[in-house]
Amino acid sequence: MKEFALEVKDLNVWIRDKHIIKGVSVQIPRAKILAVMGPSGSGKSTMLRAINRLIELIPDARVEGRVEVYGRDVYAEDPYKIRRIMGTVFQTPNPFPHMSIYENVAIGPKINRLVKSKRELDELVRWALEKAMLWDEVKDRLHDPPHRLSGGQQQRLCLARALALKPKLLLLDEPTGNVDPVNAVKIEEALKGLVKELGLTIVLVTHTPQQAVRISDYIAFLYMGKLVEFGLTDRIALNPSHELTVKFLRGEV
Ligand SMILES: Nc1ncnc2c1ncn2[C@@H]1O[C@H](COP(=O)(O)OP(=O)(O)OP(=O)(O)O)[C@@H](O)[C@H]1O
Ligand SMILES: [Mg+2]
Repeated sequence: MKEFALEVKDLNVWIRDKHIIKGVSVQIPRAKILAVMGPSGSGKSTMLRAINRLIELIPDARVEGRVEVYGRDVYAEDPYKIRRIMGTVFQTPNPFPHMSIYENVAIGPKINRLVKSKRELDELVRWALEKAMLWDEVKDRLHDPPHRLSGGQQQRLCLARALALKPKLLLLDEPTGNVDPVNAVKIEEALKGLVKELGLTIVLVTHTPQQAVRISDYIAFLYMGKLVEFGLTDRIALNPSHELTVKFLRGEV
């Protein structure tokens, strides 16, 4: 049986009586990038939260359907255990404010005992910051607090923090939202590199179709909580099957 890295089956999310995600199904193989695109309010962030179960922190949220990550039933397992194979970078950067840049990246591997020595930890922190394209900008101020970084740098710090835990599935909510276009392309290249080198699978939320087309292998287009279109990026970019997709790609919705 072929195992998907991510399989979402008939996912529905309600918050109170509002139906926010409406019967969404997608599946992607490992080492691929899925772009979830759609206008503001279409349910992109909610879909990510249903995948990593952080939706459970929202009072009155209800989830139906099935989510499998690398063959594991996300809702059948202990949420802390299952989240260990996923890393999440949120729409708004949220570095731990009371910890240094270094500590922000080091804390996860330390708590989870992924390293045996200070040297190994230093190497892992450097590796994660390099992979997040931040190392050169912070190597001389690793012990500064994160609020001295720009928004885009803080976003990359959160990416490094997620990578340090060596996730198999990385969930990114508008990772370049705070970043200028040049750095945005840099981050996109870094993400593609991670997929190639580490075999990581990525789900990336974006409201810019250009980014979805540049970076992804698959596109899921959400509109008002419904999956309008899902498939290979090349197919959708060249030959979208729904009028809404055509309009979104043209920037008209
Ligand atoms: N905690 C919440 N309580 C009530 N409604 C919510 C909550 N979170 C999201 N919603 C609603 O769910 C819908 C989808 O929101 P979501 O944040 O998933 O959209 P999005 O596609 O990520 O938008 P954006 O591009 O602006 O980030 C919106 O109508 C929003 O108002
Ligand atoms: Mg969002």
